[in-house]
Amino acid sequence: MFSRRTAWPLAPNSLSQELELRREKGLPIFDLTESNPTRCGFDYAAKTILDALANPGSLAYEPDPHGLLAARQAVASYYAERGVIVPPNQMFLTTSTSEAYSFAFRLLADPGDNVLVPAPSYPLFEYLATLNDLELVNYPLEYDGGWRIRPEAVEALVNGKTRAILVVHPNNPTGSFVKKVENDALVRVSNARGIAIIADEVFSDYSLASETRPDIRKEEPRVVSHASNSGALTLTLSGLSKISALPQMKLAWLVVSGPERERRQAVERLEIIADTYLSVATPLAFALPRLLETRRGIEPQILERVRSNLGWLDGQLAANSLVGRLETEGGWYVVLKLPTIRSDEEWAVEFVRREGVLAHPGHFYDFATEGHIVISLLPPPRILEPAMIRLLEFVKGFV
Ligand SMILES: Cc1ncc(COP(=O)(O)O)c(C=O)c1O
Repeated sequence: MFSRRTAWPLAPNSLSQELELRREKGLPIFDLTESNPTRCGFDYAAKTILDALANPGSLAYEPDPHGLLAARQAVASYYAERGVIVPPNQMFLTTSTSEAYSFAFRLLADPGDNVLVPAPSYPLFEYLATLNDLELVNYPLEYDGGWRIRPEAVEALVNGKTRAILVVHPNNPTGSFVKKVENDALVRVSNARGIAIIADEVFSDYSLASETRPDIRKEEPRVVSHASNSGALTLTLSGLSKISALPQMKLAWLVVSGPERERRQAVERLEIIADTYLSVATPLAFALPRLLETRRGIEPQILERVRSNLGWLDGQLAANSLVGRLETEGGWYVVLKLPTIRSDEEWAVEFVRREGVLAHPGHFYDFATEGHIVISLLPPPRILEPAMIRLLEFVKGFV
């Protein structure tokens, strides 16, 4: 009765089984995976946020496939602050970055085509691709004290069915930004092979590098925003879920840039895709300028939390020779390196079983090797610190 694309393995994995057992016994869970900012004790501008939803303009319906112009102008100002010019007529509002991915995939690819995605990276891509009848082909991010894209390795994976190269800037969970030299090379590959770049920039305002590990290596210049790419068709995605830490508002966007002809054709086709759904609710579109402004209050709080959690963690790791962490430049997560005497899955299951600590095993994110655990740096110290201490003590006791 059902489509093959929805034939997912639905049995709970061993980690969720272990969690369920613990919950049934009423035992506490120390969650190091919490990445919902609305649950992490930040001080939101509650009145501004709620008032923003009460615009009288919401009483009329004036559909526009691009989304309300005033909202797009506010997004354009956000980019202008970063020195990037984004004309509002090259922008589409969507209900989430995930929806923007679907628009991009629908625009670019036919069933059976493929998209190149970084590994390790965000597990949702698997589902987004399957739902759009696409294959994912992983290209490796390589780690040598910092994460790198090797454009030759990416190009070697391009075949007749490849429709796009996806970059995540900075990537989840590695925290690595795309460097200008890497982007220049990917633009050349995309242009030469007639494929597009899809750039996910949801975390791009959360930069940590120089403050946390100035010693590691001289930073190479990073891309400011892929929305300024002019050499290859580029679809840049972002939204309020991370910028203003408001995932519940379901408001995001897609920006089209690149050579004039491809850009124009992409916009014309996206207008029809967007017009088919007209998915953004009018009160949200009216609220966007004010909701986007609230980033000025929330981003500094999140950056301060992530930096101080990372600083605390580094202090703990300095006294623990068994667990290390990989370099990160941004985002909300950090990758821990554990002894490879057991698989990352086994570590994660044991953390829950013995200590009640929940951390994500690296294989959720397609790490090429074992011994990686991913934790969120969003939880307040009163949650993160005791959980991390339990985790580190457990590893010490086990090895
Ligand atoms: C890299 C990345 N892109 C996109 C999203 C989803 O964003 P949205 O809530 O706008 O769909 C996430 C959520 O964690 C993410 O990590």
